[in-house]
Amino acid sequence: MVAPVAASGVKGGNVSTQTVKLNNGVEIPQIALGVYKAPNDGSTEQACKWAFDAGYRHIDSAARYMNEEAVGRALKEWTQANNVPRSDIFITSKLWDADHDKAEDAIADSLKKLDVEYMDMYLIHSPGTMGPDTRLKAWRALEAAVDAGKIKTIGVSNFDVEELDHLLANCRIKPAVNQIESHPFFANEELREASIARGIHIQAYSPMAQGAALDRPEIKAIAQKHGKTPAQILLRWGLQLGNIILPKSLTKHRIEANAQIFDFELDNDDMDVMNSLDEGMKMGKLGPAGTSQPASPGGTRPGSRRSSGSGGLSGGKLAMSSA
Ligand SMILES: NC(=O)c1ccc[n+]([C@@H]2O[C@H](COP(=O)([O-])OP(=O)(O)OC[C@H]3O[C@@H](n4cnc5c(N)ncnc54)[C@H](OP(=O)(O)O)[C@@H]3O)[C@@H](O)[C@H]2O)c1
Repeated sequence: MVAPVAASGVKGGNVSTQTVKLNNGVEIPQIALGVYKAPNDGSTEQACKWAFDAGYRHIDSAARYMNEEAVGRALKEWTQANNVPRSDIFITSKLWDADHDKAEDAIADSLKKLDVEYMDMYLIHSPGTMGPDTRLKAWRALEAAVDAGKIKTIGVSNFDVEELDHLLANCRIKPAVNQIESHPFFANEELREASIARGIHIQAYSPMAQGAALDRPEIKAIAQKHGKTPAQILLRWGLQLGNIILPKSLTKHRIEANAQIFDFELDNDDMDVMNSLDEGMKMGKLGPAGTSQPASPGGTRPGSRRSSGSGGLSGGKLAMSSA
């Protein structure tokens, strides 16, 4: 059974207004523009501005993507030009693995590059390779940054259940999200449910499976039935499960189309078909930022370190797991 983390009711909302409430009470926009593999230049700035124009209010970046400056420039220019307060936009960055032992400096660096006084969300990008003690030290630095008003919400990414439980047993501030890969071809259901059961919201990365399976006949048929594109069908699936979804695009018409998923609803039959497509097709192989090359042997590759059970997905009527 695929567990939704929020009640249905997303039909009729829109990308600007659709939010979910995190365990610290913060309302986070349910759709973000992802900017992985987006260069630190005008193309990413432009993509962020197109996204803001299209109604997105949430950008998912990371120190590792090496594009925080471009995101920051877009944020500043667009909010000033449109007379929109900074507080209307939700900005996420992430602590890279190599910086677990210097998280305070890394946070200061991200704030500087984004040119903001605070980040809305900051995540430990992956458990990394420095071990649980150093990881916990990093978490303490994130907690201190919350106390200092430099970060509003903290969370993790690519954490398995053991890593979540270690953190939960030792933290002062509970992680609000676990950002993990999730799409119909790799729903990552066991980890999804375990995170939800611990009150930790799911942020789903690669929600379109990086565009690798848009020609699947089952998805095309559902797309045709609703007069939508396969990408919109994949995104709508994640939205209906309650995931915070992070579609990445640098292409104007795709950025716009990826937000047009509030005017239809997948029915139980559609969900049953999509839930039957989980074949463990894990896409996560992050390479150096701005490239499509594999990561260096010394570095952890978020999302590719382990295979989590894909779980047997069935049933179109989705039961709420405890949250
Ligand atoms: N925490 C982590 O370890 C982690 C790992 C991976 C990703 N992420 C986050 O999640 C975000 C999304 O994941 P992702 O970038 O791996 O994959 P994704 O969003 O599933 O797919 C992005 C790819 O799909 C293409 N695309 C976008 N919209 C499309 C459409 N409507 N039709 C056809 N193709 C479309 C994009 O190309 P164009 O840009 O050319 O349009 C890009 O090649 C990332 O940007 C990042 O913010 C986090």
